[in-house]
Amino acid sequence: NQILRVMKVKAAVALEAGKPLTIETVDLQPPQAGEVLVEIKATGVCHTDAYTLSGKDPEGLFPSILGHEGAGVVVEVGKNVKSLKVGDCVIPLYIPECRECEYCLSFKTNLCQAIRVTQGKGVMPDGTSRFSLDGKPLYHYMGTSTFANYTVVPEIALAKIPSDVPFEKVCYIGCGVTTGIGAVINTAKVEAGANVIVFGLGGIGLNVIQACRMVGADMIIGVDINNSKKAIASKFGMTHFVNPKEIEGDLVSYLVELTKGGADYTFECIGNVNVMRQALESCHKGWGVSTIVGVAGAGEEISTRPFQLVTGRVWKGTAFGGAKGRTDVPKIVEWYQSGKINIDDLITHVMPLEEINTAFDLMHKGESIRSVITF
Ligand code: APR
Ligand code: ZN
Repeated sequence: NQILRVMKVKAAVALEAGKPLTIETVDLQPPQAGEVLVEIKATGVCHTDAYTLSGKDPEGLFPSILGHEGAGVVVEVGKNVKSLKVGDCVIPLYIPECRECEYCLSFKTNLCQAIRVTQGKGVMPDGTSRFSLDGKPLYHYMGTSTFANYTVVPEIALAKIPSDVPFEKVCYIGCGVTTGIGAVINTAKVEAGANVIVFGLGGIGLNVIQACRMVGADMIIGVDINNSKKAIASKFGMTHFVNPKEIEGDLVSYLVELTKGGADYTFECIGNVNVMRQALESCHKGWGVSTIVGVAGAGEEISTRPFQLVTGRVWKGTAFGGAKGRTDVPKIVEWYQSGKINIDDLITHVMPLEEINTAFDLMHKGESIRSVITF
């Protein structure tokens, strides 16, 4: 009986909010119809994992297995799985791409809704969990749960990628890289010659910067309160650096002057609602587009004078860079393979699962760009 065949898996478990993860041996049931068993080879640790673990995420569920930025290999496919086979290399997608729902068929959004409800409840599409600890179910997280050496993921939430890739690098494409690059290419649609301002030069902001360079932007202005970000941002394509703490007077006026009337495109890559306003208001009158990439805390609100929009500035937001995962993620992997984009310099720390709490510490202290766990 397939349902009863359970495997032992090593996982970092979030038993309760606000506590460090604990390394446990958990039970994993085999993939059911439309599901795939993936051996996770590497996973990034992202702010979103930390946000949920902190307990501030109103939709956070415990006990659960977090992690949404993984890469690995298919080891078993459930019934009716057609697009993947054993041995395929894959990146799990927290936004799936079913290619059948109203959202997918609109071609206007990447927000596939096929499994949204169950994914939000921390279970597989049939309403149950594959993971358990001491006989008690553990919740899945973002449909991916990559903080485990094996996980079960719906077929529509897996991007098939080339097989000769370094997992500890391409896992970052599962969230941060695609979010930053997609914001530029899919959401804002920055064109050659544009002037751009990027607020926040962390992992997301640096990926926005390298995509702006890739599409041929002219001025690429980076704004960060931390001067130590200047060197790496310049390496990724930043042409001008502004530290808001070091300029006299109003930041928006300064940026509007620097860009001779405002930027064609701005990106907020921090998650700070005050900076979101600055990013909108430093856009060019008549056509400037500001894209919100950073995730603000639950319940926070943005504001500006409506006059800013009436006079032609546009406020946008993006999730997973507007990318349709099964279609776009393999392309981004190829861009990495051909040297179009740099991921290597963004992976500042690599460590085993046992040290995953160190990855969270490094992130909170701002000492890492990205920490990656390898199994
Ligand atoms: N003005 C300018 N820069 C700022 C400010 C500010 N008020 N506050 C913070 N920063 C800078 C930090 O110095 C840091 O360099 O923003 C950068 C944020 O980088 P990271 O903390 O590394 O975050 P990152 O992984 O890039 O994610 C940014 O996107 O995914 C979301 O939840 C994530 O909201 C977060 C955002
Ligand atoms: Zn993420």
